[in-house]
Amino acid sequence: MVDPSSIRLASGATMPLLGLGVFDMDDAAAELAVASALASGYRMVDTAAAYLNEKGVGAGVRSSGLPRGEVFVTTKLWSSDHANPRAGLERSLSNLGLDYVDLYLIHWPDSRQGRYVAAWEAMQELVESGLARSIGVSNFSVQQIDELREAGLPAPAVNQIERHPLHPQDDVIDALDARGVVTQAWSPFARGLALELPEVSRIAERHGRTPSQIILRWHLQRGVSVLPKSASPDRIRANADVWDFELTDTEMTAIGSVSTTGFVDESYYSRFA
Ligand SMILES: NC(=O)c1ccc[n+]([C@@H]2O[C@H](COP(=O)([O-])OP(=O)(O)OC[C@H]3O[C@@H](n4cnc5c(N)ncnc54)[C@H](OP(=O)(O)O)[C@@H]3O)[C@@H](O)[C@H]2O)c1
Repeated sequence: MVDPSSIRLASGATMPLLGLGVFDMDDAAAELAVASALASGYRMVDTAAAYLNEKGVGAGVRSSGLPRGEVFVTTKLWSSDHANPRAGLERSLSNLGLDYVDLYLIHWPDSRQGRYVAAWEAMQELVESGLARSIGVSNFSVQQIDELREAGLPAPAVNQIERHPLHPQDDVIDALDARGVVTQAWSPFARGLALELPEVSRIAERHGRTPSQIILRWHLQRGVSVLPKSASPDRIRANADVWDFELTDTEMTAIGSVSTTGFVDESYYSRFA
């Protein structure tokens, strides 16, 4: 039977569809949030070298008492290490206190530096040496992914991109699907903004659910992996309770059509893309 809560990556590994995001938490907060999430049934955590909380994430994983093989840990290569991804990953592993990560992503293409094809080529060796079980990218356009393929390199297993009801990116997801790349949504709630949408509240009321559960379900039913961030144990728990109800096609379309103007945080793109 296919497990609806996980997805098979092109690498052959299985990735949970739901994971905890820990952006903007210090080590102590990340440790508590990760421990709370793992106790609530999460089996995936998303951090990055740039979040400066890998030590806390590693401590949270260890304090859960779960076998290492049961927790899917993702971290990301920062742009200052594009010339030497192995050094970046070794530093992250030392901070995490782990021997390998399940997924290592190029955090941003950083086109001004212009090294992302070479960095992707160097990332292949990290799988061969066992330091990363799967590798992927984040914030890459479809054209940039095609550049990697045209260089004769394998497609990334995952592209982690901004996605929420105010920026649904359905055409990008279709293009990634066609290339065998799994889409993972960062800021699945638009940093909380999408939780205030009247259409989402109406659907939540109809299902007797919270707005956060409705939005996560909207991502998951589209086959998109999600990384909701919360530092609150109650909200962490509620955000994982999304497997026993279903949105109708009409509700799926309504949530994806709420915005005519869209919303993205341009400050990220102007600095890192
Ligand atoms: N690859 C990239 O470039 C990139 C960029 C940005 C983010 N990310 C990843 O994506 C993760 C999530 O994105 P994000 O942190 O920007 O934003 P988000 O998950 O869209 O939203 C987080 C906000 O929603 C609130 N929240 C969470 N659950 C809630 C609930 N059930 N009810 C009410 N409020 C709730 C949180 O507050 P509380 O904490 O107080 O609950 C927080 O203010 C990050 O942590 C990171 O792992 C990746």
